[in-house]
Amino acid sequence: MDSKILMTVLLSFVPVLLLLSSTEAHVEYGAYNTTCPQAEKVVYEEMVNILATSPDLAGALLRLHYVDCFVRGCEASILLNSTSNNKAEKDAELNKDVRGYEVIDRIKAKLEVACPGIVSCADIIALAARDSIRLSNGPNIPIGTGRRDGNGSSASDVPLNLPSASANITLLLSLFAQYNLTAKDLVVLSGAHTIGKAHCYSFSDRLYNYNGNGSSDPRLDANYQTVLKQQCIPNDVTSLVGLDANNATAFDLGYYSGLSQKKGLLTSDVALLDDATTNAYVLLQANKTSTDQFFADFATSLMLMGKIGALTHGKGEIRKQCSVLNPAPPPTPTPSPAPKPISASPEMRSAFSSVLSACLVLSYFFIQFY
Ligand code: HEM
Ligand SMILES: *[C@@H]1O[C@H](CO)[C@@H](O)[C@H](O)[C@H]1NC(C)=O
Ligand SMILES: *[C@@H]1O[C@H](CO)[C@@H](O)[C@H](O)[C@H]1NC(C)=O
Ligand SMILES: *[C@@H]1O[C@H](CO)[C@@H](O)[C@H](O)[C@H]1NC(C)=O
Ligand SMILES: *[C@@H]1O[C@H](CO)[C@@H](O)[C@H](O)[C@H]1NC(C)=O
Ligand SMILES: *[C@@H]1O[C@H](CO)[C@@H](O)[C@H](O)[C@H]1NC(C)=O
Ligand SMILES: *[C@@H]1O[C@H](CO)[C@@H](O)[C@H](O)[C@H]1NC(C)=O
Ligand SMILES: *[C@@H]1O[C@H](CO)[C@@H](O)[C@H](O)[C@H]1NC(C)=O
Ligand SMILES: *[C@@H]1O[C@H](CO)[C@@H](O)[C@H](O)[C@H]1NC(C)=O
Repeated sequence: MDSKILMTVLLSFVPVLLLLSSTEAHVEYGAYNTTCPQAEKVVYEEMVNILATSPDLAGALLRLHYVDCFVRGCEASILLNSTSNNKAEKDAELNKDVRGYEVIDRIKAKLEVACPGIVSCADIIALAARDSIRLSNGPNIPIGTGRRDGNGSSASDVPLNLPSASANITLLLSLFAQYNLTAKDLVVLSGAHTIGKAHCYSFSDRLYNYNGNGSSDPRLDANYQTVLKQQCIPNDVTSLVGLDANNATAFDLGYYSGLSQKKGLLTSDVALLDDATTNAYVLLQANKTSTDQFFADFATSLMLMGKIGALTHGKGEIRKQCSVLNPAPPPTPTPSPAPKPISASPEMRSAFSSVLSACLVLSYFFIQFY
């Protein structure tokens, strides 16, 4: 009986320990300072080469970081290939236009030569996004690293977490709020649409038959609408249009001035005019001559986004190939090691003791019952 009690009490601890350890998340600037000091330089030099030949990939790689972080956290779930029994995120309908996977593979190959097994795929995505901004005349953001790679990816998680091009402001605010991102973070991060392109079908509902009677979206400037119709014939599935009507290759304020002039491309962009906070920010940036405030705000919000669900402190793995999980280690016959001592804040400690008392009471009844 004694050993049964002991066992039950010990087992009750397991979920508590898991819970406490999962609240730690540490993404810090220069995490590879000692383990792979050249990591960020390797990424930057590859990005310079890649964008010199394919400038369009700057937008693609910035988007990749966002779609990674918003589904399961910034842990490279977006890079995993589907398998015979699992449809992965990259094959979800909403992600069908996500591009740049081969860039990540190319950088990963370089890093595996420089520092084998050290730099995560999740960090490569984040650094490639950071360098895409910098190389588009945007700020050079001192993002943190130290993310590790996750162990799964499911297409069915995507529509629950990523808004579509037709999302309204209510949905946008609530999807951002689930990651503690505010209305300001939403309008600032949407500023990423200052670079990159969208397919015609992502917005053509606004051009043709908007009210079911052949008219177009009244929130679209008439001249701009004419230009867009020339670029996108009905049912066009291939053409691309810059998200920022002013200049889709420069990381600047053109996205906000466009929005203030009824030249927002996606319904989700125009939706930013429907909330007091996001609307005020659009108008604040629209006519500014200095990008300083937007750049500072973008850096702050991007670094918050880059911490969503990050796996650190030995959780997760460093994938060898970004599109597949590492092979599972052979089963180990030895029992798992004793849990390491943990340090916890006073709040965590009090939560811990409440849960511990609950566990003790439960184990008591459990043992009485059997
Ligand atoms: C607020 C909610 C958002 C929605 C609804 C949204 C939706 C979209 C859509 C529909 C496209 C075009 C896809 C295509 O037609 O090929 C796109 C492109 C893009 N998005 Fe967003 N997005 C959002 C937020 C973000 C955020 C937070 C970032 C980055 C911080 C971002 C970065 C980009 C970039 C750079 C592109 C251009 C991609 C390329 O050139 O290939 N987006 N987004
Ligand atoms: C890495 O080095 C940079 C530059 O010296 C420093 O700012 C940063 O704090 C360092 N990071 C770590 C984790 O040591
Ligand atoms: C993952 O899928 C891509 C595209 O289908 C393919 O090029 C790549 O080789 C796959 N990765 C692995 C490790 O098989
Ligand atoms: C996958 O990762 C999660 C979070 O780190 C972990 O709880 C889970 O046990 C892992 N699953 C497998 C099969 O490794
Ligand atoms: C916003 O979109 C959501 C989800 O599509 C929908 O349920 C809601 O009614 C919409 N809200 C408004 C104000 O249109
Ligand atoms: C959001 O903030 C609340 C309150 O500070 C915290 O309890 C929660 O864990 C945070 N959620 C995420 C996803 O960071
Ligand atoms: C189409 O419907 C909208 C809203 O119902 C209306 O404002 C517009 O005048 C109509 N356009 C045409 C061409 O009938
Ligand atoms: C867009 O901005 C880039 C970078 O500042 C500049 O080189 C390019 O000429 C601009 N394009 C247009 C059409 O103004
Ligand atoms: C920006 O400046 C133009 C020209 O002076 C003006 O018409 C417009 O109202 C201003 N927009 C904002 C949002 O301040």
